[in-house]
Amino acid sequence: MNVKPSMTTTEHLSNQQRTILVVDDEEKNRLAISAVLRHAPERYDVLTAPNGRDACGIAEEYKPDLIIMDWVMPEMSGLEALKFLKEREETRDIPIIMLTGFGSSKHVESALNAGASDYLRIPVDKTELLARVRSAIALSASYVQIKEQSLRLEEQNRQLIALNHEKNEFLGIAAHDLKNPLNNISDLARIIQTEITSLPSEEVQDLAGLIRQSATKMVELVRNLLDVNAIEEGGIKLNSTLFDICETVNRVVESYTQRAVQKNILLHFSFPDEALTVLADERLTEQVVENLISNAVKYSPPNKNVFVRITNNGKENANSQNVQAATARAMVRIEVQDEGPGMSEEDKKKLFGKFSRLSAQPTGGEHSTGLGLSIVKNLVEVMNGEVWCESVLGAGATFILQLPKRL
Ligand SMILES: Nc1ncnc2c1ncn2[C@@H]1O[C@H](COP(=O)(O)OP(=O)(O)O)[C@@H](O)[C@H]1O
Ligand SMILES: [Mg+2]
Repeated sequence: MNVKPSMTTTEHLSNQQRTILVVDDEEKNRLAISAVLRHAPERYDVLTAPNGRDACGIAEEYKPDLIIMDWVMPEMSGLEALKFLKEREETRDIPIIMLTGFGSSKHVESALNAGASDYLRIPVDKTELLARVRSAIALSASYVQIKEQSLRLEEQNRQLIALNHEKNEFLGIAAHDLKNPLNNISDLARIIQTEITSLPSEEVQDLAGLIRQSATKMVELVRNLLDVNAIEEGGIKLNSTLFDICETVNRVVESYTQRAVQKNILLHFSFPDEALTVLADERLTEQVVENLISNAVKYSPPNKNVFVRITNNGKENANSQNVQAATARAMVRIEVQDEGPGMSEEDKKKLFGKFSRLSAQPTGGEHSTGLGLSIVKNLVEVMNGEVWCESVLGAGATFILQLPKRL
């Protein structure tokens, strides 16, 4: 005989009541226990099954909060059903109270050994039944809580290990990058120290120049490392003011013109007639634009152009998570376009990561830390702006920076 469960899964989920599955081959026992549970102050929902096999099916489908299971039943005994349910991942955590008519403690022992939470002797006393049901449900709820907590802790632990790993990696790369220029400085200083009497003064000057170059590399790297650290510690202090973005970008363009000319690169700058006021941190904006222009000059071969354009018609990127086309904010758009090597799709994915020195190499012996764009991305996000790159391998790259317009 197949006994239909007395409620559906959705009913089960929609109310907060506990559901108990009562398994007994004798109908009068099922009815008696069910009645006690239904009329208890907790008003338990009750499912019933006449044998172990049906009980297993119902338990798998409905995941009751507790099972009360008779021992001796046809088809599949209570003990067999208990073992079956405890072996399965989906039903393992459902507490089971065994009903036993036998007085023997051997039975009690084998039930508890097989994973039963508790046992009740037949005939069942109403008060004892409810007390044991409450205790088993409470215990199981604490168990579930502890299990969830330990899963959360495990996850946190995993994240901490990953973070620690990333920090170590970061430290390793930073130390490695500092070691080369430091070794250079040390070697060059030793040459000056041991050969000062025999060296012509021009050569000493050259050596001092090389020492300065190495020191500059180190200063740049340390500055980048401090920026990354400040970003990760949440220590970027925004000093937002209203300023004309065209003037700021113009200053950066002018400061790079000389360097571009040295590489025979022409730096073009176009901007609208009107002043374009943005509300952002001017120093950070300058740092971001400087990074983008310096990259364009650094990675372009000679005899190419770099175009810096400011336009008034930026629209918040529809891909941005917090944006829907209709509510997109008006943005000022700053493009830095070069005619350099561009980049592959693979490189594009890593572009804004830390220490990502990719396929493109500096074309004029410039230094590369691979930190610039990760700093750019973070600074722009702090200022509620957007930055991304559009590029096809072999066909140059365009970096687009958008900053919110003053309302
Ligand atoms: N305009 C560009 N064109 C081609 N590749 C670029 C461009 N800008 C950056 N890259 C690539 O991205 C990498 C990361 O850039 P960045 O974070 O600024 O670090 P860095 O300039 O110190 O190497 C660079 O090493 C380079 O390979
Ligand atoms: Mg750079």
